Amino acid sequence: MHIGCPKEIKPQEFRVGMTPNAAREAIAHGHSVTIETQAGIGAGFPDENYIAAGAQIAGAASDIFANADMIVKVKEPQSVERKMLREGQILFTYLHLAPDPDQTHDLIASGATCIAYETVTDDRGGLPLLAPMSEVAGRLAPQVGAWTLQKANGGRGVLMGGVPGVGPARVVVIGGGVVGTHAAKIAAGMGADVTVLDRSLPRLRYLDDVFGGQFKTSYASAGNTAELAAAADLIIGAVLIPGAAAPKLISRAQLSDLKPGAALVDVAIDQGGCFETSKATTHENPIYDVDGIMHYCVANMPGAVARTSTIALGNATMPFMLSLADKGWKQACEDDPHLLNGLNVHAGQLTYYAVGKALGIDVLSPQKALRA
Ligand SMILES: NC(=O)c1ccc[n+]([C@@H]2O[C@H](COP(=O)([O-])OP(=O)(O)OC[C@H]3O[C@@H](n4cnc5c(N)ncnc54)[C@H](O)[C@@H]3O)[C@@H](O)[C@H]2O)c1
Repeated sequence: MHIGCPKEIKPQEFRVGMTPNAAREAIAHGHSVTIETQAGIGAGFPDENYIAAGAQIAGAASDIFANADMIVKVKEPQSVERKMLREGQILFTYLHLAPDPDQTHDLIASGATCIAYETVTDDRGGLPLLAPMSEVAGRLAPQVGAWTLQKANGGRGVLMGGVPGVGPARVVVIGGGVVGTHAAKIAAGMGADVTVLDRSLPRLRYLDDVFGGQFKTSYASAGNTAELAAAADLIIGAVLIPGAAAPKLISRAQLSDLKPGAALVDVAIDQGGCFETSKATTHENPIYDVDGIMHYCVANMPGAVARTSTIALGNATMPFMLSLADKGWKQACEDDPHLLNGLNVHAGQLTYYAVGKALGIDVLSPQKALRA
């Protein structure tokens, strides 16, 4: 198969769909790989790294889209990219179609076979191509929270780990899933006093079994949440109710109960945010003040560490990318129902029920698409 990887063109996106190592593996499997020039530069991979791996370099995205059997990307294709997709071509990337009717209609019209990272599943009910970005955002959250707490940034002027004779920062993590667990581990590693709140008792049991001693757990009743929040220096929002907007767990009125200069890092901002006063911010202008409480609400946190994120995403996508290239999409999806769950669009039809429901578009079952 001929695999193509264009440079990402969405503003502020520095990741790239294929690392030099992913290209090397695909080539070792007998495929050819073409990367758009400078595609990896934002993640610290110059063209020479890809050439050393055996890949070709193309001067323009149009060359990639014209010649590749499979396009591997990071972000959903932008309008200009969608116009270049062809019937029979495979697109393997994040799509997030449900809130995006324009993209959905364009992908259907393209005739391409579009497999979305975010709907590929695993045996444990997880989303293996979303998890690496949650791991990154979770580990980044205490780092940006520590920065936000600094006096010059409007924070309380509290050091995460304290010093001998001065207590550490109190950190409360609301939601103990992938983001929350990684956030708690790093905050505890920085020496902070950490409590994780969750509504799932099995999850709290797991966290207590595995991390008891490193951080505390608490049931996320409204009362516990309010009490812990009032004593916190840094609060990290990491809840998720799949398919729904994030619940608002700290109201504007509650801000007056928090410590002046406390920091709120709302990782759940991509689902609308779990604090009433959250609104999405960018890496250029990440924080703002509401009633003396500093808010950090960047919706694409992994972009801040594009190199780590690119490598982490590449590790997760590589087996699926190789399977698609080795077997073709039909056989690969036939052999792996989790990959079939990633099929969102095929040959002019939508093949993912949740997107069809959200946008009122008829859906062809993915199983029927396989047999077509
Ligand atoms: N901002 C970013 O750049 C970025 C990056 C990655 C993930 N995210 C977002 O972070 C959020 C968390 O993702 P995740 O992968 O950790 O999800 P997850 O499903 O692994 O964990 C979510 C946890 O929230 C808990 N929860 C649900 N409702 C709750 C409530 N009312 N109170 C307390 N806990 C509650 C669940 O029991 C679960 O343990 C999602 O919204 C995700 O989209 C954002």
